[in-house]
Formats: sequence, C-alpha cells, structure tokens
Amino acid sequence: MLGVKASHAQSIENREVFWGQEAKRVHWHTPFSQVVDVSRLPFASWFVGGKTNLCFNAVDRWLESDPDQAALVWVSTEVNEQRTYTRKTLWQEVNAVAAMLQAQGVGMGDRVLIYMPMIPSAVFAMLACARLGAIHSVVFGGFASVNLAQRIDDAQPKVIVTSDAGSRAGKVTPYKPLLDRALELCASSVQAVIVENRGLYAFEPVSGRDLDYADLREQHWGQEVAVQWVESSAPSYILYTSGTTGKPKGVQRDTGGYAVALATSMDYVFQGKAGETFLCTSDIGWVVGHSYIVYGPLIAGMTTILYEGTPVRPDGGILWKLVEQYKVSVMFSAPTAIRVLKKQDPELLKKYDLSSLRALYMAGEPLDEPTANWISQGLGKPIIDNYWQTETGWPILAAQPGIEALPTKFGSPSFPVYGFDVRVVDEQTGEDLGAGQKGVLAIVPPLPPGAMSTIWGDDERFVSTYFSAVPNRQVYSTFDWGLFDEDGYWFILGRTDDVINVAGHRLGTREIEESVNAHASVAESAVVGVADALKGQVAAAFAVLKQPERYTTIEQQRALEVEIMALVDQQLGAVARPARIRFVNALPKTRSGKVLRRAIVAVCEGRDPGDLTTIEDPSTLEQIRESI
Ligand code: PRX
Repeated sequence: MLGVKASHAQSIENREVFWGQEAKRVHWHTPFSQVVDVSRLPFASWFVGGKTNLCFNAVDRWLESDPDQAALVWVSTEVNEQRTYTRKTLWQEVNAVAAMLQAQGVGMGDRVLIYMPMIPSAVFAMLACARLGAIHSVVFGGFASVNLAQRIDDAQPKVIVTSDAGSRAGKVTPYKPLLDRALELCASSVQAVIVENRGLYAFEPVSGRDLDYADLREQHWGQEVAVQWVESSAPSYILYTSGTTGKPKGVQRDTGGYAVALATSMDYVFQGKAGETFLCTSDIGWVVGHSYIVYGPLIAGMTTILYEGTPVRPDGGILWKLVEQYKVSVMFSAPTAIRVLKKQDPELLKKYDLSSLRALYMAGEPLDEPTANWISQGLGKPIIDNYWQTETGWPILAAQPGIEALPTKFGSPSFPVYGFDVRVVDEQTGEDLGAGQKGVLAIVPPLPPGAMSTIWGDDERFVSTYFSAVPNRQVYSTFDWGLFDEDGYWFILGRTDDVINVAGHRLGTREIEESVNAHASVAESAVVGVADALKGQVAAAFAVLKQPERYTTIEQQRALEVEIMALVDQQLGAVARPARIRFVNALPKTRSGKVLRRAIVAVCEGRDPGDLTTIEDPSTLEQIRESI
C-alpha cells in the first residue's frame, strides 16, 4: 500500500483512479458514469450519473449484517437518561419521521430546518430528510431568533422540526419561543412546525401550524418509507456558516461525494471499524456533528454516541466514563473541552478503563501545546490534530494512520489529506510559497468529493467569495494563514478575515456588530476576537454612542453594557455575546474609513499594533488601550 505522501499525490494526479476505487465503499443504486466533471471549474460534480442515498448507506445497509448491534446511543447527563437504538430500531424511528415529513408533503429537494438540542429525534430527522431526498438545514441550538430568521428566509423550509427546550449545565434553554419569535421576524412562512415536547418548557402550540412529534410518531409507527435514490451531486444539506459579511453563507453539500469522502476518512484518518464505537463531543448544529456524530460513523457501521451534557457534569470524568462504558475506540473533541478538563482533578483521567480507545482527534480551533501535552500524557494515547472547515466537510490536514503511521508534531495538524491539493500562497502575488514561508492556505480546484458544491442559491457568491480572494489565480481560499516546515508538517496561523473562533464556535464579527448596533444608543461598533486562555478567543466590542453624555458614570455604562449583551443574547444567542463592551469616542480607522481591526486586536492582546501609517486619528487607538 502507498504511504501518506504517495497516496496524496495519486489522489491529485490520478484522481479518477483514486476516487473511482474509493467510491466502492458506498452503495450505489445506479452506478456513476464519470468520476468527476471538471468542465465548469471551480464547480465540480463528483460521481456523475450515480444515484445513492445517505440514509440508505448509514442505516439500511447495515440492517442485515447485525440488526441488534447498537447504532445510536443517547446519553444525557442533563435529564439523566440513556437510550440505545439498534440498527433495527434506528431504522424504525427514521422511517416514522420520514413518514411524518412525507405526510406534510416533504419530498425530493424540499428543505427542512432542524432546530433541536442533542436528542435522538434530531438525528432521526436528519436521516429521514436524507431518506426522502429532502435537504436539511440544522441550526445550532445556541443560536437565537435573528440567526434563525435569516436561515429560514434563505433556505425557505417547508417544515421545521424543533423541541420545546434543551438543557445546558442543568439549566433549561427554551427553543420553541425563540423559533416562534424567528417566524415572526421572517418574510417567509412555513407549512408546519413539528415539536418534540420534552416537558421541559411549557408552551402554547400555534394551532394549524404546530404538530406534536410524539403524536405523529405514534400515527406513523411501523410505516416503511421507500428510499429516494438521489443524484450524486444533488444537495444533501445546507449548513450556514459565518464569513466576512453579516449574511451567513449556506454551505451546500452534495450526496454521493460526501458519502464516499466520509467512508474513506473513517478508514484512513479515523481508523474506525464497523461494530466499534465513536464518541464525538461536538454538536449536531456544527459541521463536525454532521460528519462525525451522524453520517461518518453510521456509514462506517459504527455505534455513535450522542451526548447531551457538558464535559464537567456530574464531574470532569464523564467523558472517560463514557469511553469505558461504551468501549469507545475513536474519540473526537475540541481543544476548549480539554482545556476545561485541565482545571479538573487529574486523577479523573486514571479512574476509568480507557483500553478500548485508540486515539483522540481534535479539531475546530488551534490545539495549543500545553493542552496537547497534558491530554496526551494523561491518556497515554495519540492525539490527532486535524484541520478543516464547514466548507470542506472533512479534514484538509490530518495525520492519516489508516494509510501510514507517521510521528506527529505538536502544534501541527500534520499533512494534506488525499483529495485536497493544498498550497501556501503569497497574499500579494498568489504564487506558491515554499517551506517555512507564511501565506494563505489555498486549495487548487476541483475541491474533493463531499466539499461544498456551492453557496445555496448563489453560485456567483460561491465564486466571488472563495475563488477570487487570491490574486492572479482561481484557487479556493480557506481564509486561514498557514505554512509547512522543512519536514512537510503543516501549521495553521489564524484567520485572514474577520471570522473568530470562540470555544470552537465559528462566529462572524460583522454579525455581532450588527447586533450591537441594533441597540438604540449605539452609533457604530467594532467587534474583534481577542486571545483567551480557555476559549481560544473571545469577542470584545468597542462601541461609539449616539449620545455619550447620557452615559458618563461607570454605573450608567455598566447598565448599558448589560442591556447590549442581553440584546445580542436575544438576537444571536449567548455564544455570540461579547465578553466585554467598552465605550469609546471614535473607532480607529484608516483615512478611507476601514476599521483597523488587527490594530485593535494587537492592543487588546498587549502586542505592538505594527504599521499605523494609514490611521486617521492615532488617539482613537490610545482610547482603546485606556478603556481596557
Ligand atoms: O480557522 C480554522 C479553524 O476553524 C475554522 C473552520 O471552522 P468551522 O467552519 O466551524 O469548521 C470546523 C471543522 C473542524 C478554520 O478555518 N480550525 C479548524 N480546525 C483547526 C482550526 N484551526 C487550527 N487548528 C485546527 N485543527
């Protein structure tokens, strides 16, 4: 078998052969006639002419071999419940939800928005959509009404599936009222809202619109819904993500390419085997949850654990307890979760039998060396840092122990993954850079199978956002800085744009600014990401007030800060709330009016702001320094 480097080269230079072979990992109802169509680059269609179905590959395909094998284990330390769904019972649940959606007229190509906490019905709904050839769009439960409304207006779902509430750290977090509020803000209307009532939060159903999940489940129980065979390049889902503008982008994912890419990554990157257990601590509202809680492990015939809870309740040993109890062989988490655990009793790492665990994978934000060292020593297992994005759907850079075991380097997500023709390019010229040189991480198209096919409803924006950022050549910009060293190990050095990463949550500073500006007293604001020891980054806001004379005392300013924070909570959700909002007379801007964000970040982090020759008024930066 080829090593990591050689198989990567083959996947690029001879992509038909490479992916043609890998495609055998999934079931095709109709075989494809062409591996990839690159006649319309940067658009690419994978496995042209082939028809398949994600739900079939994740659920039906595994029914025969061992129907009683656990497929989905739900553990909630929030409501103290555990449930196991076997391959057979998962199939039954998914069919019941597919039947209820079908009864609402949901079919091929229709959108269904899923706004749910980490409960099994959320996974059933995703798989049910896939079964019907419908397109799901899961919205992260931590997001609030304005986020939701934007997504509803853009995706135009026929049906929304939601729940009365979730629970976080023992506190009920209502979902239904936020959705109701969002629907009031929306220009579009939906046909039906299916509500899984957990009895956590009392609400009044909207008559003629709201339907009860449990009632419908009972009504449709035992029905078998035929799998709809979907064109390989037809969308499987839309997942919204933040960028430079205030308007989130609907990342559109294909079907066949995604199935093949995930199946391949489950083997080469994660080394997960059918019958084993995968624990991913992300959330179904993020891409990691889509790929490695739901589709990846199930397509590989693994048992996947859906965990509703935090890493520290009832104590900091809960994740390791799950590893022992369910004999987890592959675990996927985020650096922030591990940093949270670092504050707990280190003995908790020794309390449980972790012999089943082969490796801990981490992604979503930079993995700092102290955290990597702490967890790797504590567990005595390989730590595999992997780098990717909502847009790509699966790792761009990672160690690939399923191909070849190579040493890892702390701070590096190792090597380019097969299929990704990654380069470090010069920001000014677009030219490829060599070892040790910092540049923008770019990918030469075609993007591999399963990576985004376009922005939902906006091909033009797909090209203008992602393929026009690097000068002089049409390559995909990751909007991350990076470099590779002499030994071929790659490093990520932060975003080139205004996206920030708070505890692994990707947020757009522009969206937060719009929310801060929505307060009647605010004239304008700048939101930046500032380094934070626990969360990686936190949002810091600087606001200019319309009538600063009304807020002169500390008490008045503090009260206003609390009000603005509450507004952000209500509009975007607590994840987006700035850690602090400070009031200044003016924002540091260039003479052409561009806010000098990098200078603000530098000042906040106590670093030298660098070249300030373009600044209009240097005293504005001074004021920022004083305000912190
Ligand atoms: O800046 C990079 C950072 O997270 C961004 C993508 O976030 P999201 O779309 O939420 O997808 C997360 C999928 C894992 C990237 O542009 N990022 C992701 N992984 C890493 C990372 N930064 C450093 N190291 C990583 N391993």
